[in-house]
Amino acid sequence: IYVLHIVGARPNFMKAAPVMRALARYPELSQKLVHTGQHYDANMSEIFFRQLGLPAPDFNLEVGSGSHAWQTAQIMMRFEEIVLQERPNLVLVYGDVNSTVAAALVCAKLGIPVGHVEAGLRSFDRTMPEEINRLITDQIADLLFTPSQDGNDNLIGEGVAPEKIHLVGNVMIDTLVHLLPSVNGRCRQELHLEPKKFALVTLHRPSNVDDRERFAAILKTLDTISRNLTCVFPVHPRTRARLQEWDLAIPDESRLRLLEPLGYLDFLGLMQEAALVITDSGGIQEETTFLGIPCLTLRKNTERPITVGVGTNILVGEDLEHLENETQAILNGTGKTGGVPPLWDGKAGERIAEIVCEYL
Ligand code: UD1
Repeated sequence: IYVLHIVGARPNFMKAAPVMRALARYPELSQKLVHTGQHYDANMSEIFFRQLGLPAPDFNLEVGSGSHAWQTAQIMMRFEEIVLQERPNLVLVYGDVNSTVAAALVCAKLGIPVGHVEAGLRSFDRTMPEEINRLITDQIADLLFTPSQDGNDNLIGEGVAPEKIHLVGNVMIDTLVHLLPSVNGRCRQELHLEPKKFALVTLHRPSNVDDRERFAAILKTLDTISRNLTCVFPVHPRTRARLQEWDLAIPDESRLRLLEPLGYLDFLGLMQEAALVITDSGGIQEETTFLGIPCLTLRKNTERPITVGVGTNILVGEDLEHLENETQAILNGTGKTGGVPPLWDGKAGERIAEIVCEYL
């Protein structure tokens, strides 16, 4: 039995690692890994492979950046060749990036079974490219692995056959649980920060950074917040490009500190010791919920509502005053607390492996 995994962008890597590790325990099964090359900078890709213990990809499609249509089409054309040559029994796709939907489409057309890891999440906001990727992938996948019950409910509501849906828990949390013992305060110390005396910031959603006015307003609010609480901001390449293109100024970089993108362990180390996290990422909403760190999400909606219902996450939407107020509440000790959703226990990859082996 032969399983082919396909990954391409940063958040895919932490999801594939625990599944590959769990499948490696089944001697009757062989697996290979395809990297589409959607993310290619060393600090967006290679460092994660190393730290997560992922094997070097067996194939790299070296697609790189481009428009959505171009990138998706390039991945499809190049991946189709690999699938025809390799003839896997099952292809596993991860998350909601362009690499995910492109690979799923290729397989669906060739009649190769596809499993989608992190299925069923919905923001119900079709202006988000990821929402389109999620909807399409889930309609054509044969096995749907969901992280939480809301994923099952969404899929059932869209008419997906219940027997295809498997509630397995959160693979991203598998990676976190696995690597937490290797995390330390080294990065924080190098940045001369005291535990709980700083905010960790990430921003990369087109809705926040591709609109000049919006992005400038966010930076202004972060500057205000940083008067009370130092902000450290590892900058995603998309965000870096906008900063440069629009020549947006940071008034005082000693309190709003821009960094290069960090590796998994350094980022997790900072997250664990942060007073709070300000983000528009998907995965970080989940990681902060698991760690019990307050998270303020700069989005109007989330495909991960359980992080709001159960966890520490607050959607601050577009209202930047709300962001300032919630930050203050956390600093005053009156911020939101939360719990950990069921099945976010580090064993989701093992559950997936069992189901895959039964299926094949
Ligand atoms: C992609 C995913 C998004 C995910 C994010 C995580 C899609 C539609 N979006 O967004 O869901 O949250 O990854 O990081 O798949 N670039 C580099 N170096 C790289 C990669 C990208 O410089 O290694 C730059 C390029 O200028 C590129 C831009 O970043 O045009 C955006 O990259 P792209 O992969 O298109 O989307 P992301 O914003 O990274």
